[in-house]
Amino acid sequence: MAVASRTRLRAILASWQRQPNIRAVIAIATASQKGGVGKTTLCINLAYSLARRGWTTLLVDTDPQGGVGLSLARSTRSKLGFYDFLSGERDLNKLVLPTRLPELQILPCGQYNACARRGWPVQEVPARLADLLRGAELRGVDCVLMDTAAGLNGMSESVVKACDYVILPQQAEPLAVRSVPHMLETLARFRAEGAGVKVAGILLTMVTMDSRISQKVVSELRAMLPADLMFDQNVPRLPSFLEASAMGVPVALLKKNPPPEAILFDQLAAELEQRAGLVLERESNQSYASLLD
Ligand SMILES: Nc1ncnc2c1ncn2[C@@H]1O[C@H](COP(=O)(O)OP(=O)(O)O)[C@@H](O)[C@H]1O
Ligand SMILES: [Mg+2]
Repeated sequence: MAVASRTRLRAILASWQRQPNIRAVIAIATASQKGGVGKTTLCINLAYSLARRGWTTLLVDTDPQGGVGLSLARSTRSKLGFYDFLSGERDLNKLVLPTRLPELQILPCGQYNACARRGWPVQEVPARLADLLRGAELRGVDCVLMDTAAGLNGMSESVVKACDYVILPQQAEPLAVRSVPHMLETLARFRAEGAGVKVAGILLTMVTMDSRISQKVVSELRAMLPADLMFDQNVPRLPSFLEASAMGVPVALLKKNPPPEAILFDQLAAELEQRAGLVLERESNQSYASLLD
């Protein structure tokens, strides 16, 4: 990859120094230009890992197709959710679904078509997204993870702009080498337009272990991009993800003993904690629990 583009990317990154968060809740969006790169899969599995690691996590589905809900339980189709909040239902208690894990809550996409028919004031979307994050904070949420529809425009653009961080899942295919700089330039434009969103990292997904092309894309992207822009962890292409989605569970719940691909989301959550500066309060004055008394 041309040195010029590496220099350009470094310049973009240099302008993205960390700014202090004004909210206690940290909002993280996932976004990609293309569909089918594994955003929804990432959101479900990462939200589960974050919750297991002690973060009260609200997973919000902003994709009108409702992938989060469909992957977990078809019954969420009939529930109110994100779009109902945007079009006037302000009580999050009526919209947020609890899960078996006390730290994990879900705001499904809701009745997009009904809401779209009634319409919502587009110019008020940023203020309503800010209200949503404040509402989450009042509920004691530490981390809001927002799944988006493909593309960095429309509602997805507003959602990314409202967040503190964005994770960019990128399928390990040759097109990625060309599309990543384009995506970073779009995010640089968002920042120029006043958004504070920072890149938490680019995450390589659907990495095919036995494909030379897929492996070449991984090494080209890692050579091209500054190391701190990429998650160390890749997500391999594995049938268990399809299976988990068919069964409506995070991969960690597919078997009694979670398979290695479940643990990789714990690793990813740990990386995210460092990148987004998530520190559990109890850690600041932690005393170590001895294994033996
Ligand atoms: N790492 C993976 N390996 C195999 N299949 C995957 C993987 N990640 C996602 N999938 C499958 O690919 C499809 C698209 O994934 P999804 O997460 O819905 O993408 P997006 O939200 O970006 O459109 C789904 O059927 C999902 O189960
Ligand atoms: Mg999706």
